Amino acid sequence: MLLHLMTWQEVEDYLKTSTGIMMPIGSTEQHGPTGLIGTDAVCAEAIARAAGEIAEAAVGPTISVGMAQHHMAFTGSMTLRPSTLVSVIADYVNSLSRHGFDRFYFINAHGGNVSTVQSAFQEVYAQTSIDGGGDNRPRVRCLLRQWYQRPRVQSLAKKFYGNKEGYHATPSEVAVTQYLFPDAIKTAELPELTSPGGFSFTDAEDYRRRFPDGRMASDPSLATPEHGKELFELAAEDLAADYRDFLKG
Ligand code: NI
Repeated sequence: MLLHLMTWQEVEDYLKTSTGIMMPIGSTEQHGPTGLIGTDAVCAEAIARAAGEIAEAAVGPTISVGMAQHHMAFTGSMTLRPSTLVSVIADYVNSLSRHGFDRFYFINAHGGNVSTVQSAFQEVYAQTSIDGGGDNRPRVRCLLRQWYQRPRVQSLAKKFYGNKEGYHATPSEVAVTQYLFPDAIKTAELPELTSPGGFSFTDAEDYRRRFPDGRMASDPSLATPEHGKELFELAAEDLAADYRDFLKG
């Protein structure tokens, strides 16, 4: 159930049965010549909604712009600075914990968010550590999961794409968006990629110089909506089960 579609009384009732919530986080950034700018935001939101339905969990508002500074040399990309994203996440969590939520399960679709989200969790914990344990607020726990790194999802992606999955603008994520938005499927001639400089990068200009069309060793032309449906459903089911374990722990 989406927090956005509940009343405040319904949220109060929900909290009598569960204090957990799923939090989708994505990004708004280039995804190569055939990938949508909103790929990560779209995937995180849709997978979290489906996982939330299976697990009967509340799903919070999607954080749609993430930490994507390295994509800023491609038109249409947006980023929050790491420090901004830390503040956004900490404020989201602290707002909801005021009402009694204490288990925050972040469903992430963008590798560039990982270290910043982990820093945000430390920011949240630091606040209660510094304030001391004397208040009546619940002890918050946060967990971060990348949908595309769930072992079963990775196995399925490997079966479909082998080493053409790559690291950015992957056929897996493009396939999920093709399943969700069939009217927005894009096609283009995609040359085979070589990455002589390896996969490290620093800022946006450095990234673009190393990865001129935005992809990292991926071949998204292999993506199909049928693959996307399978990947999507597997990710949702897997994350729902993992969320239930998280609530028990
Ligand atoms: Ni992505």
